[in-house]
Amino acid sequence: MDKNNKYVVLVTGCTGGLGTAICKKLYLDGYKVVGNYLSKAKGDTWNAQMQEENFDIPIYQCDVTDFEAVGKMIVKIEEEVGGIDILVNNAAITKDGQFRKMTYERWDLVLQTNLYSVFNCTRHVINQMIERQYGRIINISSVNAQRGQFGQVNYAAAKAGMHGFTKTLAIEVASRGVTVNTVSPGYIATDMVLAIAEDVRRKIIESIPIGRLGGTEEIAYLVSFLASEQASFITGANYAINGGQHMF
Ligand code: CAA
Repeated sequence: MDKNNKYVVLVTGCTGGLGTAICKKLYLDGYKVVGNYLSKAKGDTWNAQMQEENFDIPIYQCDVTDFEAVGKMIVKIEEEVGGIDILVNNAAITKDGQFRKMTYERWDLVLQTNLYSVFNCTRHVINQMIERQYGRIINISSVNAQRGQFGQVNYAAAKAGMHGFTKTLAIEVASRGVTVNTVSPGYIATDMVLAIAEDVRRKIIESIPIGRLGGTEEIAYLVSFLASEQASFITGANYAINGGQHMF
């Protein structure tokens, strides 16, 4: 039996490009993977696709901006699959536009989805991880939190907030066998990036020294490394994985 089989992983926002790749990689590495999704239509399509590809990954519908609903989802997962050992906070959206024209709604929705969700999900799993003296929290942030990006005040604020969360929680739980880390992808070939206007996207790709968008599986590989038992001395770190677009 694969030694990872004893660990349960929850990946939020599993139906997106990164979420899907992370679920698949961790499943192939032998973890018990469960996914979270929001839209029923996307969840149904995703389920059918995973079954066709022989991935046995149960998924749970829940709006991660809703603290109470997340609590109920976690209890259900604990009852049906087991306690969550590894949480990948991946759910995220963009509502891009210049700050001087940004509505409160577009600010709030991005903060709720990309940052409050991290509190909502982590708060409901952290005490069980502490009790078991083992856990991994992996927060998927962005290069645009590290450097800023025209049109992304809401997104950059939320994603930068994630790493402040990572560093502080890492200190609080370091002695309990729980690590907390941030992964900051650059521009990856997902629907989110492909939604950027083509001329804007072309200029962005020109600014990436490696000369291409990243692959979702390249991010999943790093997440898998951080999820492993062997990564136990890494905590509070922020991994840049952006093709050389931003170095610091
Ligand atoms: N720097 C400076 N000025 C810029 C600019 C830039 N990068 N981009 C646009 N502008 C200027 C234009 O020159 C124009 O100026 P004038 O009005 O003086 O002519 C003005 O801004 C146009 O602004 P508008 O408000 O009319 O906006 P727009 O319709 O042109 O689009 C935008 C604005 C939606 C933000 C668009 O620029 C865009 O999509 N940018 C890319 C944003 C981006 O990278 N998003 C990442 C999404 S993927 C992701 O988030 C994943 C991840 O983690 C990396």
